[in-house]
Amino acid sequence: MNRILVVYYSRSGHTEFVARQIAALCHADLERIVDRRPRQGWLGYLRSSLEAILGLRPDIERGRHRPGDYDLVIVGTPVWFWGVASPVRTWLHRHRGALDHVALFCTCGGSGHARTLDALEAMCGSPALARLVLTERAVPQCQRDPALRSFLLELKRVRSVSVSLPPLQDQAHA
Ligand SMILES: Cc1cc2nc3c(=O)[nH]c(=O)nc-3n(C[C@H](O)[C@H](O)[C@H](O)COP(=O)(O)O)c2cc1C
Repeated sequence: MNRILVVYYSRSGHTEFVARQIAALCHADLERIVDRRPRQGWLGYLRSSLEAILGLRPDIERGRHRPGDYDLVIVGTPVWFWGVASPVRTWLHRHRGALDHVALFCTCGGSGHARTLDALEAMCGSPALARLVLTERAVPQCQRDPALRSFLLELKRVRSVSVSLPPLQDQAHA
């Protein structure tokens, strides 16, 4: 049986929502990357922007799960200035040696997602088995989104991940 860990950072809840759906659909453990300093409000936005632009690695809390104990690690980030959110950068710097098989996802307003996932892949040090992009608008209905479905089916194909897929959007109304 595959052990799967979904690791994510989320400042305003979109990436967390998707991470929870993925974890539920493929029976995975969930690890939230937690900031040591609050990041809310305009000051938090400003700090996030600067850290993303400068490629900084802020302090994060120690995680509860060890990625080396898992057969597959799924990493999720919001897009920040066409790049990876800085707390995810810190987590990957800490754990990249323990990541053999990874899949990646991001949420965004609509731009910079390919560049972000390319950078995330480079930070992981191994090619992603599958990649998923969801815009903020698509997040609330992501469980029935064909992109999420393809992402999970690809993981099932390449790593025999056991997935519980909900019906597709139009089938749900049939
Ligand atoms: C500092 C900052 C920079 C952002 N830069 C981008 C960007 O370059 N492209 C984009 O499409 N969205 C950008 N966004 C929007 C987020 O990617 C989007 O709202 C994402 O879903 C937030 O995820 P979260 O709710 O999990 O924090 C940015 C948001 C923040 C806070």
